[in-house]
Amino acid sequence: SASPLMEQLIFFHDHALLILVMITVLVGYLMFMLFFNNYVNRFLLHGQLIEMIWTILPAIILLFIAFPSLRLLYLLDEINEPSVTLKSIGHQWYWSYEYSDFNNIEFDSYMIPTNELSTDGFRLLDVDNRIVLPMNSQIRILVTAADVIHSWTIPALGVKVDGTPGRLNQTNFFMNRPGLFYGQCSEICGANHSFMPIVIESVPTNYFIKWISNN
Ligand code: CUA
Repeated sequence: SASPLMEQLIFFHDHALLILVMITVLVGYLMFMLFFNNYVNRFLLHGQLIEMIWTILPAIILLFIAFPSLRLLYLLDEINEPSVTLKSIGHQWYWSYEYSDFNNIEFDSYMIPTNELSTDGFRLLDVDNRIVLPMNSQIRILVTAADVIHSWTIPALGVKVDGTPGRLNQTNFFMNRPGLFYGQCSEICGANHSFMPIVIESVPTNYFIKWISNN
């Protein structure tokens, strides 16, 4: 993870997985013990207590997943006074970006085709114009689309927002280290759906200011 939100998502995944493992082991043990069962019991008529237990216990276990899940859901939606807003518009098949806070800078971002790729480039993942954003600051992303539904997704930042024509979606993130963060469209948007990647250049704030004033 490169953001606090993705960190929380990973924690929740591990938490849910642990519960899942405990359930699987318990049920596996019970099913295995069934092989050694005696199917005849002269005095067995009903089992109210065990039925109470195996109804209420799973419900309680589900609460231990539901509450952390809801906490995360609302945490992901929180906008913490962003210092930069970036608008990204999905097209068939490329992204275009607008820095509306700074002199209305806007540009298109196309994938670099394999035959034009440099030796250190990532195939199907690098773009001609990267997004440059400051690290250690709260960033707001506005996502929309011009033709069909796209999805602006960057795994390392825990961000995934649909871009829908006629609607403006909002999300935010905070990058806690410099580097390049890669993403892809994740809404099946047509023939070249796989070929509209996203690249963010996470840089120190003074570098970002330099970049934005030279554009
Ligand atoms: Cu745009 Cu898939």
